[in-house]
Amino acid sequence: MVLVTGSAGRVGQTVVGELTARGQTVRGFDRVPTPGVADSVVGNIADTEACARACAGAHTLVHLAATPDDDDFMARLLPDNIVGFYNIMEAARLAGVRRLVLPSSGQVSWWRALAGPWPIHPDEPVAPKYWYAATKMFMESIGRSYSEMHGQSVIVVRLGWCPRTRAQVAEIAASEWAQDVYLSPGDSGRFFACAVEAPEELKFAIVYATSLPNHILRYDLEPTKRLLGFVPQERWPQGIEIVK
Ligand SMILES: NC(=O)c1ccc[n+]([C@@H]2O[C@H](COP(=O)([O-])OP(=O)(O)OC[C@H]3O[C@@H](n4cnc5c(N)ncnc54)[C@H](O)[C@@H]3O)[C@@H](O)[C@H]2O)c1
Repeated sequence: MVLVTGSAGRVGQTVVGELTARGQTVRGFDRVPTPGVADSVVGNIADTEACARACAGAHTLVHLAATPDDDDFMARLLPDNIVGFYNIMEAARLAGVRRLVLPSSGQVSWWRALAGPWPIHPDEPVAPKYWYAATKMFMESIGRSYSEMHGQSVIVVRLGWCPRTRAQVAEIAASEWAQDVYLSPGDSGRFFACAVEAPEELKFAIVYATSLPNHILRYDLEPTKRLLGFVPQERWPQGIEIVK
């Protein structure tokens, strides 16, 4: 069974849909009810008991529950992206989860990405935007540690931009750079399915995931293809009609 936290959210819904279509058994875990799954836990990752219940029986964790952009550090980022992340990582370890798929962000290479040259390779030094990106660096580094300390397979993905609102769609429409790092809902679901189904012996990887660029390839997608077999199929503005 694949546990998807943040399963009711923008990315979570793409993951639940694609995994279910591929015949994977999926459990959702979100603080609000998750459409499209029979098996789900409604709860908060602040709650260690809810995390333990959600992880029981899972072989893979796709951990999407988070505050997904810059926000108040003490009220949102600290409890969701640091403490809640710790809770789910520990619950997954104790439940014997073998693979962890952890969503980082292109914001970890923000200052570098503004300047070019492109494409940026995942092995290049990072240049995080601000506090949200710093929480994703925490995720990336402890993800690496868990693969070494506990032998779990850990795949970190620096996601492009899968818009949550019509306002974000308008922002992307106004920026060539944003169109190049756009991640369509369809490609998002397919990417995460590839990560879930990647070879067991993959111990640790950091990759970028975007759709096809319209202008310039900003992030190097070669490792994503080589390690996970994922190749984007869509480009901006394909798929935006699902954003309400
Ligand atoms: N959408 C993007 O462009 C993008 C880009 C880079 C990284 N990410 C990352 O992908 C993940 C999903 O982002 P999204 O765009 O789907 O965001 P979203 O806000 O649409 O979904 C997040 C979901 O997590 C749930 N959630 C948040 N805090 C929780 C908590 N404490 N306990 C339980 N559930 C909680 C929310 O209810 C929501 O359904 C996040 O980790 C985000 O940082 C997203």
